[in-house]
Amino acid sequence: MRWNGLLEQYKEWLPITKNTPMLTLHEGNTPLIHLSRLSEQWGINLYVKVEGVNPTGSFKDRGMVMAVAKAKEEGKTTLICASTGNTSASAAAYGARAGMRTIVVIPEGRIALGKMAQAKMYGAEIVEIEGNFDEALRMVREAGEGEVALVNSVNPYRLEGQKTIAFETIDQLGKVPDVFALPVGNAGNISAAWKGFKEYADKKGTELPKLLGVQADGAAPIVYNRVFEEPETVATAIRIGNPASWELANRALEESKGNILSATDEEILEAYQLIASQEGVFAEPGSCASIAGVKKQVDAGVLEKGATVVAVLTGNGLKDPDTAIQVNEDKALLSQEEFEELLNELKAGVQ
Ligand code: F0G
Repeated sequence: MRWNGLLEQYKEWLPITKNTPMLTLHEGNTPLIHLSRLSEQWGINLYVKVEGVNPTGSFKDRGMVMAVAKAKEEGKTTLICASTGNTSASAAAYGARAGMRTIVVIPEGRIALGKMAQAKMYGAEIVEIEGNFDEALRMVREAGEGEVALVNSVNPYRLEGQKTIAFETIDQLGKVPDVFALPVGNAGNISAAWKGFKEYADKKGTELPKLLGVQADGAAPIVYNRVFEEPETVATAIRIGNPASWELANRALEESKGNILSATDEEILEAYQLIASQEGVFAEPGSCASIAGVKKQVDAGVLEKGATVVAVLTGNGLKDPDTAIQVNEDKALLSQEEFEELLNELKAGVQ
């Protein structure tokens, strides 16, 4: 059957009225991939939900399609958001699609290259500030009035759209995973996913998973229960020190009897390289916090053997080519002579 995007697919579950435009870039329906090597090594049944396959390369499209459709329905003309990169790319794309103006406020020099390229290509008006994401969010919070729609995850329609990740995971897996792991920045996604799991449980009688939230150690306000004034991490997507949905996330973690932990940049980059080189799945660094967190729980012996774990890979690896190149800096390329030598060896059957 043809996939017509999230609003069409999950309309009974979403705040859609007869006046809501059925906006779509065919977001959602992202692959749930079994990681067989890591599953075997770690003694669990590990899947990844590859959100980088969404139209703008991140999970943000799920919430954005809903928020922009509602903004259009309400007669708004302009979208505004603060962003560490992915939200701005998504807002700009759906803004273009809906014929709206998009203004994005981003921390100068701390946006991955691909995300900046996207915001420019989709025609957003871009404001770079000297401060970090938290300051950018503070600036735009007051702006969502009149003709302007604020499309950060403090907009409730964002969470409505994003909750579909829970529906899809259950539909694809055929059951609820034991553990649902995801990176945490502004904490909208973990809150939205929990809402989705609860709604399916209420209406369909499905089980509830344990949530596993993972922050970067240099930007881990929820883990340490304090604001990080100067959050710092290689995972720029989740470089956030004062998450807007902090309370909601805490409630979700409590209700699910889940856990939140932090991973160092080293652990995040290790996970980043591991899933690409061992499983062929390339996700941006921030995404890989989920995998780093799962590995920490495996190492600590916290995860039951054979547990079914779904880790969300929130963004595409191509978003951040600079980090990909940097972590492989020492990897020498073959010279032409070495290449010829290699060809001869291969011909002669030497492995
Ligand atoms: N992973 C990626 C790739 C992200 O871009 C983000 C957030 C998260 C995880 C965390 O999700 O904020 O719902 O807890 N990016 C936002 C942005 C902040 O502006 O693109 P969260």
